[in-house]
Amino acid sequence: MLRSVILAASRSTRMERLVETAPLTRGVVRRFVAGTSPDDALRATGELVANGLAVSLDVLGEDTETAEQAVATRDAYVSLLASLRGAGMTPAAEVSVKLSALGQKFDEQLAYDGARAICVAASEAGTTVTLDAEDHTTTDSTLDILTKLRTDFPTTGAVLQAYLRRTEADCRELATAGSRVRLCKGAYKEPESVAYQSTLDVDKSYVRCLNILMSGDGYPMLATHDPRLIAIGEDRARWFDRSPDEFEFQLLYGVRPEEQARLAAEGYTVRVYVPYGTQWYPYLMRRLAERPANMAFFLRALRAK
Ligand code: FDA
Repeated sequence: MLRSVILAASRSTRMERLVETAPLTRGVVRRFVAGTSPDDALRATGELVANGLAVSLDVLGEDTETAEQAVATRDAYVSLLASLRGAGMTPAAEVSVKLSALGQKFDEQLAYDGARAICVAASEAGTTVTLDAEDHTTTDSTLDILTKLRTDFPTTGAVLQAYLRRTEADCRELATAGSRVRLCKGAYKEPESVAYQSTLDVDKSYVRCLNILMSGDGYPMLATHDPRLIAIGEDRARWFDRSPDEFEFQLLYGVRPEEQARLAAEGYTVRVYVPYGTQWYPYLMRRLAERPANMAFFLRALRAK
C-alpha cells in the first residue's frame, strides 16, 4: 500500500517540487546519488574501484519528452565514457542506460540511434552498456532494441525484472553464450495482470529466474540487496561451478555498503550501480518505496520544511 502511494508520487510534478525544495532533502539524496556532475561521478567511481568494486554509472533522467533532451542525454553518456577511459577506469566501470531518457516513448528510432552511439563510445572506451528495465509497457521495445544492438555490440547487457510474469520465459531466451543479463526484482508499480504482487511471489520468481540464468550459458548479474537471495546466488554459483568471473553481484550505491565489501572480500565480482545528475527525483522515490526505513528518514527531512 505505502509502496503504491510512493510510486504514484514518483510521477507527480507537485510532489517533485515539494521534495526538491525541502531543506533536508539534500542529505537523503546524497545517500543514494553520487552527486550532480560528471566530476562527482568520477570521484565516486574512483573510490569504489580503489576498493575492488566494479561500477555501472547511470546519468539520471527518464521519460524524456523532447528530441533535444534525448540528444543531450546521449551526449552526456558519450562524454562520460571518454572521461572514464581518460581516467583509466574502464573496463571496471560501464554504463547503465534508460531508453526512455533517449526518447523511447515518442521516437523508438531516436532511442535506438542514441543507444547505438553510446555503445560505440563504450566500445571505444573498452567497456560495456546495460539497458535498464523500465515499466512493463516498454519491455518489448527495450528487448527489441537490445537484440538489434547486440548484432554489433554483443556484450550489451539486458535487465529482467522478476516481478513480471513473462520474465522466466525471457530468462530462457537470454541465457545464451556471452549474454549479460541483470536480474532484479523490479521497481515500478505494475498491474496484477502482468506482475506478481506479493513479496513472496516476487521472491519465488526471482529464484526460478536465477536458477535459469545460473544454469544457462550466459553471464548472470544478480542485482539485489536481499540477504536470502544473495545466499541463494552464492549457493547456485557453487552448485553450477561458476567461478567469480562467470557471474556477478550488483548493488545500488549507498545500499548495504558493508555487504558490497563482504562479497568483494569473498572474491566475488561486485558491481555498484552509481546514479548521478540533477534529475534524481523518480530514482529517489523508487528507493524510498523499497524500504520503510528509508521512508522514515525521508519524512523526517520533509517535516523539517
Ligand atoms: P528488497 O528491497 O525487497 O529488500 C529485501 C531485503 O534486503 C530487505 O528485507 C533487507 O533485508 C535487505 N535490504 C534491502 N535494502 C536494505 C538496506 N538499505 N539496508 C539493509 N538491508 C537492506 N529495477 C528496475 O525495475 N529496473 C532496473 O533496471 C533496475 N536496475 C537495478 C540495478 C541494480 C544494480 C540493483 C541492485 C537494483 C536495480 N533495480 C532495478 C531495482 C530493483 O528492481 C529493486 O527495486 C531493488 O533492488 C530492491 O529490491 P531488492 O532485491 O534489493 O530487495
